[in-house]
Amino acid sequence: MKSDVVNVLVLVGSLRAQSVNRQLAEVAIANAPAGVRLQLFDRLGDLPFYNEDIDIEPAPEAVQALRDAAAEADAVLVVTPEYNGSIPGVLKNAIDWVSRPYGNGALKGKPAAVIGAALGQYGGVWGHEETRKSFGIAGPRVVESISLSIPTKTLDGKHPRESAEVVGKVCEVVEKLVAEVG
Ligand SMILES: Cc1cc2nc3c(=O)[nH]c(=O)nc-3n(C[C@H](O)[C@H](O)[C@H](O)COP(=O)(O)O)c2cc1C
Repeated sequence: MKSDVVNVLVLVGSLRAQSVNRQLAEVAIANAPAGVRLQLFDRLGDLPFYNEDIDIEPAPEAVQALRDAAAEADAVLVVTPEYNGSIPGVLKNAIDWVSRPYGNGALKGKPAAVIGAALGQYGGVWGHEETRKSFGIAGPRVVESISLSIPTKTLDGKHPRESAEVVGKVCEVVEKLVAEVG
């Protein structure tokens, strides 16, 4: 930890304006515990597709911005839907960028938690598992015991901030993640 404040980088695996996962991220940010700053990196859609030919100095501007945000972070919270039983491409692309330089990415060893919501009855659990697997290989220390997979129909079309139960679960996730910061 570089300062008195714990910095948590938040990545959302959906680019959709009305994304339920973005709304869940908003809940986490709005309810940050004292001494914890959650910051959404909102530019995953600006990242080029990963290509080793362009992974050179200077890195593409959006890539550098992501790597800088990752370097500032003490932990990372991923909030994502499941796409076709797996991780959304936009999120996988971001993971590939932060995984480099190989063995020394900006999130190396930092605790990571993966949560989210999806349409299916299991709330995107496969996508969350795939994200944990990929992220764990990419460098962060994925905290496998932190999980929250919400079937979107349980939200009844409302913003998740309107559900005290969901807000409580999201807060619990953030508390557990912050407790992992050394
Ligand atoms: C390309 C695509 C693939 C999807 N695949 C799945 C899936 O495998 N499992 C699932 O539960 N929902 C799937 N969905 C539905 C999403 O879970 C749902 O649209 C969700 O609300 C997306 O998250 P968002 O609201 O944050 O954008 C898929 C949606 C899209 C657009």
